[in-house]
Amino acid sequence: MKVLLVGSGGREHALALALSGSPLLQELLIAPGSPALGRLGRLVAVAAEDTDQLCALAEKEQVDLVVIGPELPLVNGLADRLDSLGIAAFGPRAAAARLEGSKEFARDFCARHAIPQPAFAAFDEPAAAIRFAHSLNGYCVVKADGLAAGKGVVVCDDWAMAEQAIQSMLDGQFGAASRRILIEERISGPEISAFALLDGPEAVWMASARDHKRAFDNDQGPNTGGMGAVSPSPHETEALRGQIMDRIIQPVARAMAEEGTPYTGILYAGLMLTEDGPKVIEFNCRFGDPEAQVILPRLKSDLLAAMLTQTEGGLSHFDMRWSPDHAVTVVLASSGYPGSYQTGSQIKGLDALEGQPDILAYHAGTSLDEAGRVTAAGGRVLAITGLGPDSQSARARAYQGVAMIDWPEGFCRRDIAATR
Ligand code: AMP
Ligand code: GLY
Repeated sequence: MKVLLVGSGGREHALALALSGSPLLQELLIAPGSPALGRLGRLVAVAAEDTDQLCALAEKEQVDLVVIGPELPLVNGLADRLDSLGIAAFGPRAAAARLEGSKEFARDFCARHAIPQPAFAAFDEPAAAIRFAHSLNGYCVVKADGLAAGKGVVVCDDWAMAEQAIQSMLDGQFGAASRRILIEERISGPEISAFALLDGPEAVWMASARDHKRAFDNDQGPNTGGMGAVSPSPHETEALRGQIMDRIIQPVARAMAEEGTPYTGILYAGLMLTEDGPKVIEFNCRFGDPEAQVILPRLKSDLLAAMLTQTEGGLSHFDMRWSPDHAVTVVLASSGYPGSYQTGSQIKGLDALEGQPDILAYHAGTSLDEAGRVTAAGGRVLAITGLGPDSQSARARAYQGVAMIDWPEGFCRRDIAATR
């Protein structure tokens, strides 16, 4: 089979590695990919957001399947366009990807179907928004409605903080994405990310993970796209898995199908385990990044076969098998991330990591300089995954990998997967 993978980050590195292990794969094309991904497939210089060119590429190359990594092309309707060309695509259609693309859509959808979530209201002018925030004593969460690369969320302690967040978002802090905002009741409890594979009304549990979103140790500093992750989540039990499937994932799958917008592909539910059970914080329409870097190394079944089975409509017959191993990934980011940072510094030590048992180095934002040396080219640069029979041995492996990397211009958290 000829497969086109869309994207270029650490998640796509994990996807490319998993797809490469499939005996069904004949050729992997990656658009746009990165120099590191060029070792796993043929790179084509088309941006993940360039729907027209991606469709033209898929047609010209006569690919059998397009695997869409990031949310933007999904929300923009790449899968729909490929449908119209008769090319199989893995990932939800635009109408279903609204679960991630519009937080208001997701909240209204859950409200219509009694899927557990915090109280919320949506606003496009500050006065009413501020009144609602006051009614929650300012103990609330202010969110940009649209996609803001994981940054459009302010968790507020009091109404001064809430008022400031409301004003700056409605003033266009995140452009069109924050012209409309949501204000939510602030709930509490441990967070868990649940991943399922959906095919219309059918849903198959995949894995859980815990993501560490703050930039610095002890959950200090600004929110990021994710500084590390562990899978399974330390909170996962069979009973909790059952609750999440029964109360959240299966109702989503059934209701999306009933509403005429069947969901296909990976559904990532970000949940909070409250005293009243799991509640929805957000949905994403794709694998997480860096969660893919801890979930996919644990998948024993053939990822490409699973994706094909879903696109061909036989998901209930697919046997999804997982390794009993735990996985921990630690993100190495450029100093300054998630604020401004410099690129171009050299990263040493990656060669020595290759072939180390139970350690995987995923490239999220690297490049090669003229001399062929690996350099930093983004905010999140590497994700080093360790595997082991329990989370602490996986964690130890991940940090052993991190210690082999010589990159003074980068930083990482030291407490990934350290505590419950
Ligand atoms: P999101 O980008 O929606 O995942 O939000 C980022 C983080 O903000 C989440 O991981 C939670 O820690 C926090 N958060 C979002 N919504 C709420 C809420 N309603 N109550 C409490 N914390 C929240
Ligand atoms: N790590 C969070 C995300 O992928 O949305």
